[in-house]
Amino acid sequence: MTYEEILRAAQAAEAAIGTAETAIVLGSGLGDYGETFENVRRIKYTDLPGFPASTAPGHAGEFIAGEKNGKRVLIMNGRFHMYEGFDLSQIVLPIRVLKLLGVKNLILTNAAGGVNMDFRPGDLMMITDYINLTGKSPLTGPNMAEFGPRFPDVSHVFTPTLQAACREAAEQMGLSIKEGVYCWMPGPCYETPAEIRMIRTLGADAVGMSTVPDAMAACHAGMNVLGLSCITNMAAGILDQPITHQEVLETGKRIQAEFRALIDHILEKI
Ligand code: HPA
Repeated sequence: MTYEEILRAAQAAEAAIGTAETAIVLGSGLGDYGETFENVRRIKYTDLPGFPASTAPGHAGEFIAGEKNGKRVLIMNGRFHMYEGFDLSQIVLPIRVLKLLGVKNLILTNAAGGVNMDFRPGDLMMITDYINLTGKSPLTGPNMAEFGPRFPDVSHVFTPTLQAACREAAEQMGLSIKEGVYCWMPGPCYETPAEIRMIRTLGADAVGMSTVPDAMAACHAGMNVLGLSCITNMAAGILDQPITHQEVLETGKRIQAEFRALIDHILEKI
């Protein structure tokens, strides 16, 4: 994927939905958060040049622009995952389009498995750092200097000021949220119990199949990033019960109101 191709996609997106400084990527189950905005405009990914069709269940494939409390926000309703077979440059195409649409603050959300034994399904976790165990990077290939440097510093991918805003929002709501390290695994199989023991030893608190490539591309492009995980299930080997996509979606639904309210509060602060 070339810079010119990304630019063409961004121009088409801008004509359809306009620009904004803040954007949110909706993970599994959070899909209809877009319905809570006013003056909504939408464009399907498949109507944008260079975009593939997203295939993951629970992920619509569209950009939404809307307003809440007078603030304009862009929403990525559905994302692309490595397990769908996409090239990593396609996975981060929407993130780079958001950058070209003027986005400075990016909120990434996902459903994740709880690795930390103190977590419970239904917990919300603010991501403080990531571990990439896929061995892959969306920045592999010729560097797109229009976005950022060849060797990005990822010591602070998750922006301290946005983390502070998130902590403050949760505190004001009287909501206790967890914090921790998110480990990116390739999927589509959920992990084995041995893999979960391994990543816990390595320092992971939650595990999932997304978010990290988005965070890498956003960091490369100089965007501020906030990451929020909904712990939808305990990771493999912790509870004596199977892990199912159904459980992931059901837990997501159960705490949807809380998750939405937290994001609403954060939006007021950034
Ligand atoms: N593992 C990987 N991805 C996930 C999980 C999990 O346990 N739960 C939700 N997404």
